[in-house]
Amino acid sequence: NWTPDAFADTMIAELKEKLGDDRVILGLSGGVDSSVAAVLIHKAIGENLHCIFVNNGLLRKNEFSEVLKSYEGMGLNVKGVDASERFYDALKGLKDPEDKRKAIGRVFVEVFDDESHKVENAKWLAQGTIYPDVIESVSVNGPSATIKSHHNVGGLPDFMKLKVVEPLRSLFKDGVRRVGKSLDIDPQLLGRHPFPGPGLGIRILGDVTPEKVSILQEVDHIFIQGLRKHHLYDYVWQAGSMLLPVQSVGVMGDERTYESVVALRAVTSVDGMTADWAELPHEFLKEVSNDIINRVKGVNRVVYDISSKPPATIEWE
Ligand code: XMP
Repeated sequence: NWTPDAFADTMIAELKEKLGDDRVILGLSGGVDSSVAAVLIHKAIGENLHCIFVNNGLLRKNEFSEVLKSYEGMGLNVKGVDASERFYDALKGLKDPEDKRKAIGRVFVEVFDDESHKVENAKWLAQGTIYPDVIESVSVNGPSATIKSHHNVGGLPDFMKLKVVEPLRSLFKDGVRRVGKSLDIDPQLLGRHPFPGPGLGIRILGDVTPEKVSILQEVDHIFIQGLRKHHLYDYVWQAGSMLLPVQSVGVMGDERTYESVVALRAVTSVDGMTADWAELPHEFLKEVSNDIINRVKGVNRVVYDISSKPPATIEWE
């Protein structure tokens, strides 16, 4: 008879036994899996767990500082590393989605390797791998995914030579959330929508610049806060916005403008493999669209994506 409490107790005891006094490194992504894995391991070995949270400059607005604060609030030994500039440099001029993914993955591995060298005598690499990742072998979320899909680029970085510990390997997402709840992790963190590892880098169609990132962060913030305010956040499985490489004509006063178009996407889904576009109330869409156009400089048109998956994927890139 599986219960989250019993799972947590048994796992913490197992981890204590397995890890002893060893030092462990873990990459936090802000997502549910890596957070729950971190809290479990922290309960087992305390300060010997060294968490690393990398800002790739492609996170949501305020995400780096807020999530870092909440990790610190949980008592985790966490180091925040702002590597935004390194990522922007690597992305300069890249337009192809797969090239962008590779660049982001490569820089992540470099930054993570640099940081992990600062933890002397580390013996283990902890990952928030869950059961669906094990069967698919390619995880869709979090730094672990980035690490896996790029581990054969240019020789193995040192942190990948560490022994691997994956306390959530036997669980599905729902189990992870339940374990997280029994560990008293903030429900808001546990209920977060999935967010891709390459972040806004694959929601800015075409080349990525810091200016485009800040425009999209504002748009996304208005959309997500709106979903929360209207109690639609939990109805939606994942939501986000895309900055299109398209400009359209608008009017402001008696001037014609020629500015960017953004697309909003919200879907309902069980596992992300198939998805339906979310039937958000028109009143809500109207309010969000007005807010975006009034408040975000450089955007004069908002469209809503009404495509299901398949054939349309959740992300546009
Ligand atoms: P698609 O766009 O394929 O996305 O329908 C399915 C789920 O996977 C996420 N996704 C990614 N996650 N790295 C990630 O970590 C990626 O390159 C990536 N591409 C898509 C997407 O956000 C959705 O949850």
